[in-house]
Amino acid sequence: MERARVISLAQIPAAAYVSKEKQIFKLNSQITNCFLCEELVKSRTQTVPGYGDFKAKVLIVGEAPGRFGADITGVPFTKDRSGIFLQKMLNKVGLNLSAPESENPSLKGVFITNIVKCNPRNPDDTNRSPTNPEIKNCMEYLTKEIEIIKPKLIVTLGLPATKFVLGNDFNGKNFGKIKKLQKFSVLPLWHPAFVIRGGGAQRMNEKKYFKYFKKIEKIISKQE
Ligand code: URA
Repeated sequence: MERARVISLAQIPAAAYVSKEKQIFKLNSQITNCFLCEELVKSRTQTVPGYGDFKAKVLIVGEAPGRFGADITGVPFTKDRSGIFLQKMLNKVGLNLSAPESENPSLKGVFITNIVKCNPRNPDDTNRSPTNPEIKNCMEYLTKEIEIIKPKLIVTLGLPATKFVLGNDFNGKNFGKIKKLQKFSVLPLWHPAFVIRGGGAQRMNEKKYFKYFKKIEKIISKQE
């Protein structure tokens, strides 16, 4: 008769870690096979699920894959100007171990995703914001990513992502201010594209924006 396999206690945390990876893997195959939004199915090159460190304490949420970046690479915030800018911020505080231009960044303590997993385009092929029905159709995937990763802090980039997490009452004046919710805190930030374009009336520039990434890194290292 086969002897029962003895599992040492030391193996248990490793098993839990693999399980998060497996859950994300299963979710990603659901995302790949999603055909809910007629227009997005036509405009996308591919679906773009979240990626990063499965043990992440921080989840970064953007709007949707860009046509010159994530839509081509399949990896959120890569290749285009917004992506390289964000990865540069993360790289400078040690949360991205790859070069900012990498199309497959190695993230430490961070998981990155978007509220919508497909690239939305205008008839002239330029990027457009996702519509409310598209955001609603995709909602289940982000909700599941949050459930699986269980972040302590969610960093939202731009208004649509912030409204998704904090509700439609969110006022742009509260960008940069951490809000504590029951299960996690939220740090709403300006979208990298907004900073690249000059940062509006408050002139949010790279130097000022970087301070928030130092804050994010501090939060991660406190939790370790
Ligand atoms: N790339 C993404 O993946 N998301 C954005 O919001 C912008 C660029």
